[in-house]
Amino acid sequence: MRIALYNPDGVAQFWIDGLHAVWPEAEVALWSPGSPAADFAIAWAPPQAFFDEQPHLQAVFNLGAGVDALMRLRIPPQTQVVRLEDAGMAVQMAEYVCHAVLRHFRGLDAYEADARAGRWRKQAPAVHGDFPVGVMGLGVLGTRVVRALQGFEFPINAWSRQPKALDGVRCFAGTEQLDAFLAASKVLVCLLPLTVDTQNILNQDTLSRLQPGGYVVNVARGAHLVDADLLALLDRGHLAGATLDVFRTEPLPSEHPFWRHPKIHITPHISARTLDAESLAQIITKLQALPQGLPVAGVVQRERGY
Ligand code: NAP
Ligand code: GLV
Repeated sequence: MRIALYNPDGVAQFWIDGLHAVWPEAEVALWSPGSPAADFAIAWAPPQAFFDEQPHLQAVFNLGAGVDALMRLRIPPQTQVVRLEDAGMAVQMAEYVCHAVLRHFRGLDAYEADARAGRWRKQAPAVHGDFPVGVMGLGVLGTRVVRALQGFEFPINAWSRQPKALDGVRCFAGTEQLDAFLAASKVLVCLLPLTVDTQNILNQDTLSRLQPGGYVVNVARGAHLVDADLLALLDRGHLAGATLDVFRTEPLPSEHPFWRHPKIHITPHISARTLDAESLAQIITKLQALPQGLPVAGVVQRERGY
């Protein structure tokens, strides 16, 4: 068995050693142009040339939850695309989103500014019922985030493609229920995959449907958000702020207005990191199952893009 690795950010030796521990006879190597064709691949955002040189690739394991970078490429038709599911990302996402929502809900930015100014001042307490949180995407990460937010007693709305039922959550589904979902929400958390149906989904029309004083947390992909529309709604005062972890261009260009906007918090795509040990363990389990024809979770349905 030959396994090709393409993981520019990762520690290749960790993966080579980990795979050799299970398959000592396997040829595991970092891909470079002209490398021998592989049976399986483990990759994050490889170039098109990577797939052009893989005539008999059985599966590619994506080193992340979102497969949008792969879906932009021509992948051989027989190749299964398998994504990471959770693998330690869900709890990180729950931490990040709860932090962003709570910081806004508790007015902590204002208290930090007061502290820097040496000012002792109490704000009126916020009421959970006034902060319905809408989570777009009720998949592996969205569901974990919903559970974490429920612990803080926020009313929760959730939106998915197919109808869902979740205890204590007002569930909406499909484009026909999007407006109602937005109108019921003040804080909007985006955890959708980036597909042709979801790109630019956070725009003037959708964001202006949030309740006044709305807040946006985008932890999915930068191309979900129309940057200029967010800025216009912040400047108009309809939105109170945003926490953004993902951007159309990453790293975020130094001249981008998001950097200096007083109502926007920025992080460099770190809300849920790919963890090597958890990811290796999950991929090994799937790599053992696939050649035996056993069902494997996380296989991407190419026609829907996630
Ligand atoms: P997932 O399990 O596939 O869940 C995706 C959810 O989105 C599902 O509930 C799905 O609905 C819903 N959805 C997809 N298309 C939709 C549409 N057109 N309309 C309404 N709902 C739609 O994915 P996940 O593992 O939770 O990951 C979600 C995304 O998070 C990833 O794709 C990635 O882009 C992002 N992410 C970001 C980071 C970071 O560090 N910033 C880290 C990891 C992942 P159904 O349930 O009906 O199918
Ligand atoms: C990170 O953004 C991922 O999709 O896992």
